[in-house]
Amino acid sequence: MLKNVFLFILLAAPDIFYPFSSAAGDRNPAVEDGSSSVIQLSSPFLFFGRTYRQIYVNNNGHLTFNQPSSVYTPYSFPINGSQDIIAGLWTDLDNRVKGVVSYQQYTSGNVLTNATLDINTYFPNLKFNASWVFVATWNKVDTSFQVVLISGSNYSFILMNYGDIAVTGHPVQAGYDTVNSTHYFVIPGSNRGSSISNLRISSNVDVPGRWAFRVDSGLRNSILKCKSLIYR
Ligand SMILES: *[C@@H]1O[C@H](CO)[C@@H](O)[C@H](O)[C@H]1NC(C)=O
Ligand SMILES: *[C@@H]1O[C@H](CO)[C@@H](O)[C@H](O)[C@H]1NC(C)=O
Ligand SMILES: *[C@@H]1O[C@H](CO)[C@@H](O)[C@H](O)[C@H]1NC(C)=O
Ligand SMILES: *[C@@H]1O[C@H](CO)[C@@H](O)[C@H](O)[C@H]1NC(C)=O
Ligand SMILES: *[C@@H]1O[C@H](CO)[C@@H](O)[C@H](O)[C@H]1NC(C)=O
Repeated sequence: MLKNVFLFILLAAPDIFYPFSSAAGDRNPAVEDGSSSVIQLSSPFLFFGRTYRQIYVNNNGHLTFNQPSSVYTPYSFPINGSQDIIAGLWTDLDNRVKGVVSYQQYTSGNVLTNATLDINTYFPNLKFNASWVFVATWNKVDTSFQVVLISGSNYSFILMNYGDIAVTGHPVQAGYDTVNSTHYFVIPGSNRGSSISNLRISSNVDVPGRWAFRVDSGLRNSILKCKSLIYR
């Protein structure tokens, strides 16, 4: 039964989405402005020089490391604030009304094989080998997108995958920001509410709907291939 549910979700999700399930235990409570409980990472994640062993998946479209966040109106990046934040699509999302927010970690299997392939395609010459993948999915919370964290040896990456993105009239923003904004990125157009549907077709890696970033202490805002498809 659960397997059928899982298959259905895989079939219904956009091709670029990494596998996800919405089984109990992997999904956020349906609470306005809620969050997951603290998620212990099975492998530490390096984010611009800081090493994290835990994360929170927040219903309003973002990930934070030290504490959950209920903030539903995005602060503009660069915030120059005191926390690291990864925003798949920071806006007012309500999983009480519809949709599911869920998360999974993988340390073996085809998800790692595919992550290794993807990263070596987008960031050639690193000879990257993924050993850990974390997938956070906001599925049909009006809008569907994922934030995928990928790491191996000392490298770490983020993929953001976008499906159908509803225009809601609420302020929005996609990208990431760090403590004191030493590193930050705003996906072009993602903070203009009326044009966020374009996230489904824009890319910095020639894959419509996908953005990829290297986020260890390596190159600043490194986007090795930068072929934006936005508004093409
Ligand atoms: C961040 O704020 C500090 C003061 O708290 C200021 O000195 C610094 O210039 C600001 N940096 C940016 C990028 O705005
Ligand atoms: C891995 O990628 C292949 C080719 O795109 C795809 O058919 C398969 O479903 C993917 N597997 C997983 C577990 O993501
Ligand atoms: C990649 O890492 C996996 C374990 O995560 C290991 O089994 C595999 O041999 C490694 N492959 C390469 C090419 O280093
Ligand atoms: C990872 O970083 C540590 C500490 O900076 C270093 O000693 C080690 O050689 C690095 N490993 C790889 C595979 O780059
Ligand atoms: C951030 O900036 C403040 C004010 O300039 C400084 O006191 C603090 O040490 C900085 N934090 C980090 C982690 O660099």
